Amino acid sequence: MKHLLTLHDWSTEEILDTLALAKKLKEEQKKGIPHPHLKGKTLGMIFSKSSTRTRVSFEVGMYQLGGSALFLNSNDIQLGRGESIYDTANVLSRFLDGIMIRTYKQSDVEDLAKYGSIPIINGLTDLVHPCQILADFQTVLEKKGALKGLKMAFIGDGNNIAHSLLYGCAKVGMDVSIATPKGYECNAEVVKNALADAEKTGANIVLTHSPEEAIAGADAVYADTWISMGQESEKEEKVKIFMPYQINQELFSKAKKDAIFLHCLPAYRGYEVTEDVIDGPNSVIFDEAENRLHAQKAVMVRLMSQEA
Ligand code: CP
Ligand code: NVA
Repeated sequence: MKHLLTLHDWSTEEILDTLALAKKLKEEQKKGIPHPHLKGKTLGMIFSKSSTRTRVSFEVGMYQLGGSALFLNSNDIQLGRGESIYDTANVLSRFLDGIMIRTYKQSDVEDLAKYGSIPIINGLTDLVHPCQILADFQTVLEKKGALKGLKMAFIGDGNNIAHSLLYGCAKVGMDVSIATPKGYECNAEVVKNALADAEKTGANIVLTHSPEEAIAGADAVYADTWISMGQESEKEEKVKIFMPYQINQELFSKAKKDAIFLHCLPAYRGYEVTEDVIDGPNSVIFDEAENRLHAQKAVMVRLMSQEA
């Protein structure tokens, strides 16, 4: 295991071991026990899109691990002026010990991994957001004590979060139901890959247009914005189409009584979720956001330290 490009690339064991390490690192952090596994190492963080959680959690995470992180806005480095991924990967590999990249095309992240010689961590592309799902799984484990055999329901756009949930749930044996409007279904290749993995782990995958069907009996209910970064011009049209997919109290009540509510954030109250649900007693969104820090520290230790 050298990179984190998608969760599909990782084995079930690699995912579960990383989650176990994330739990340990969180406990150490809370107790004030130092854990400088990446002393003297530097992570480069390339961003072509906005970020609050990813940027801050990676930077703080590196600091807590004894290393340092460099914020590289893609507009300010030569990549934004057309320098090739090939040259960028080769040059940055001479300075850094790892790269986290948030960008549009999944192929750019794959190319960085192909041409560079250091670990590459996908911090979100249009296709997937693997770090987010590791933090989500850590949160489900904390609240429910298991992943396998539980049911996750995602209601909304067949986007990067939906794709990473498919990949992640298929690997860990968690049932996953995704409800999207017609025309906004998940990527066919992602679905095919996830179905193949699910066959091995016993995860049940359901893809539907019915939010009621997806949410029925769910242990965890997940929402994301309807307007992902880069889709701002589609807002007016999408809001009309997605309104029946809003997670409000009426829909949420069809999940299990003790279901938790997850959202990767940023959230838009009154659109994909109502205030009473996201700010209600079943919502765990801030624990989920915090776990970005712990889960990503585990990813960095596994990929960037010689010890792991
Ligand atoms: N969930 C998430 O990735 O948040 P940011 O866009 O703020 O990094
Ligand atoms: N689907 C959202 C996730 C943000 C963390 C986006 O891509 O903008």
